[in-house]
Amino acid sequence: MVIPQAGEEANEKGNLQSSGEGTNDRCASLSFFLADENATIALAQRLAVQLKAGMVIYLHGDLGAGKTTLVRGVLNALGYAGRVKSPTYTLVEPYHASELDLRHFDLYRLHNEEEWEAAGFREEFDGHNIFFIEWPEKAPSLIPQADVEISFEIMARGRNVEFHANTEMGKQCLEQL
Ligand SMILES: Nc1ncnc2c1ncn2[C@@H]1O[C@H](COP(=O)(O)OP(=O)(O)OP(=O)(O)O)[C@@H](O)[C@H]1O
Ligand SMILES: [Mg+2]
Repeated sequence: MVIPQAGEEANEKGNLQSSGEGTNDRCASLSFFLADENATIALAQRLAVQLKAGMVIYLHGDLGAGKTTLVRGVLNALGYAGRVKSPTYTLVEPYHASELDLRHFDLYRLHNEEEWEAAGFREEFDGHNIFFIEWPEKAPSLIPQADVEISFEIMARGRNVEFHANTEMGKQCLEQL
């Protein structure tokens, strides 16, 4: 794979920059500087075409870091025309787009394991659905391992974003990104 060098402009908008590091010639991590919301959406468009059934993606980062913006960008790139709202209170929002079933979780307000079980969330993890999970730190023992972890860091201007692949499926995703 051709890995863009740090500072090299990686898309035509000129505001999405990336750098990468390989492990055993396989792409296990990538980082990007996203200058503005448009850059987050451009990255979401690239991620959208790499999604595979069963993929689990954790989204780390402070409140307002851009996690929901990325998911919205993915769904819009897949042709979802409806409103993509933050699942802050519902904890999960389901979507069907481009023949994919997606689940967008935000676990910030998950109180305990009983709430998780009562809502039937366990049954959602069927190996078919694609998961984007904000605040996975709130339920580490309840959710499956991530194929890809994406960490957002709020900068004075823009965001730094790091991708880490934990599985073969995740590495394939990063290699193509
Ligand atoms: N690359 C970027 N640079 C600057 N601002 C951005 C960038 N990407 C997104 N934003 C803005 O940052 C905010 C991110 O809000 P968003 O709801 O996506 O955050 P979040 O990480 O999901 O937060 P929460 O944990 O509260 O759900 C939005 O106002 C969006 O316009
Ligand atoms: Mg959010």
